[in-house]
Amino acid sequence: MRSERIVNNLQETEKLAQELAEHVGKGFVIGLEGDLGAGKTTFTKYLGKALGIRDTINSPTFTIMKVYENDPPLYHIDAYRLEGDVPDLDLEEYIMDDGVAIIEWYKNIETILPDAFLSIEFEWLGETKRRCVIEGRGHYAEIAATLGD
Ligand SMILES: Nc1ncnc2c1ncn2[C@@H]1O[C@H](COP(=O)(O)OP(=O)(O)OP(=O)(O)O)[C@@H](O)[C@H]1O
Ligand SMILES: [Mg+2]
Repeated sequence: MRSERIVNNLQETEKLAQELAEHVGKGFVIGLEGDLGAGKTTFTKYLGKALGIRDTINSPTFTIMKVYENDPPLYHIDAYRLEGDVPDLDLEEYIMDDGVAIIEWYKNIETILPDAFLSIEFEWLGETKRRCVIEGRGHYAEIAATLGD
């Protein structure tokens, strides 16, 4: 299932993150795509906030993964630098067992992702305007439909 939502400003991006947060729980996997500056990290910050995380969420480009203590914990992964060099993150073994995973540049590590996950691709339409293409694979299909315009 594929749906779309146009967000006109940061507030609408936050709104989308808040709506997604209602569906998020242990084992939830979110993949993000979009050019540099499209809004992947911004969306992650809003999602973390909506999930009750108070720590500042920064892009883990150099550390690959950051873990935010929460119930369930949030694993923020940035796969930008991992092209062609997919590490064994044990995603299915330990992240999905006890946490929520959100992955920027998820296509770089698609081979280790589960069959079912939710993806959002951000496309720059203007200074503060973005197209969000939301795709739900497997049991995430219905959530993608709900989040569309
Ligand atoms: N509606 C919007 N949604 C998201 N970001 C927006 C929006 N309007 C403006 N922005 C700005 O666009 C920038 C998005 O940067 P961000 O770091 O989130 O992108 P990114 O996709 O994570 O890039 P990178 O690939 O470098 O990690 C921020 O400066 C943010 O404030
Ligand atoms: Mg980023």
